[in-house]
Amino acid sequence: MKTIGVFDSGVGGLSVLRALLAEIPEAAFVYVADSAYAPYGERSAQAVIERSRRIADHLVQQHAIDVLVVACNTATALAIDDLRRACPHLPIVGVEPALKTAATISRSGHVGVLATRGTLDSERFAQLRSRVEATAAQPIHFICQPCDGLADAIERGDTSTTRLLCQHYTQAMRAHEDPSHRIDTLVLGCTHYPFAAEVLSQLCGSGVSLVETGTPVARRTRAVLGPGTAIQRDPGASAGLQLLSTGSPAALTDAAQRWLPARAVASSLVLEPLP
Ligand code: DGL
Repeated sequence: MKTIGVFDSGVGGLSVLRALLAEIPEAAFVYVADSAYAPYGERSAQAVIERSRRIADHLVQQHAIDVLVVACNTATALAIDDLRRACPHLPIVGVEPALKTAATISRSGHVGVLATRGTLDSERFAQLRSRVEATAAQPIHFICQPCDGLADAIERGDTSTTRLLCQHYTQAMRAHEDPSHRIDTLVLGCTHYPFAAEVLSQLCGSGVSLVETGTPVARRTRAVLGPGTAIQRDPGASAGLQLLSTGSPAALTDAAQRWLPARAVASSLVLEPLP
């Protein structure tokens, strides 16, 4: 059985884990929520790199993972190059805002992107955006909206703040919209945001399609792992799924109960703190 390590700043990566469990049910998973250091989106690049390194080291040394999924756009943007240099033999799959998919499905060519400040300010995101703008079949206009505090509100399960922030940021994004060319596609560029998809969808209206990355990342992970064994796990069983939190294991257990088909009780993970 192959073991897949998955991590995020907190509970957001469960949106990716959910897709991984559906796509690769025969694998074992170890999920780390670095909730003691969430949110990553407003931290320095160095802090995100150091936390990502500690988590990857733990997953390699203690769990002998076969592949690492960085289920966090911010950590992918800021730390994946460093992780690949540090672990040259470990296959690593990252998560990036789905600009390419959005450019393909948008009919108006006007696409909103919600993500953390860390992701949107990164060099990696700038390169991705220019690449997609240069190669899209039609002229594409991205309206990028940093959403300070939104991942944190979702992390805390604070639904009223989540709603208020979604309202605030979708309005701010739409203030930059060209009234004759409305946004018809919205990229959820942070793995926490699919857990606010319902409210975002209500706020944007039925003419706007939401795009997230869980399923494509799960397919990519499957391709990296190679053909699976024939063992199919009961999707409701907890065997082969370990949840670890550097913050509150109870909060991770609750979030997993809400958002995952598999039952699992989270344990506490202690990693060396940042200086
Ligand atoms: N879920 C993460 C992401 O995809 C991080 C959010 C945060 O911690 O700020 O960017």
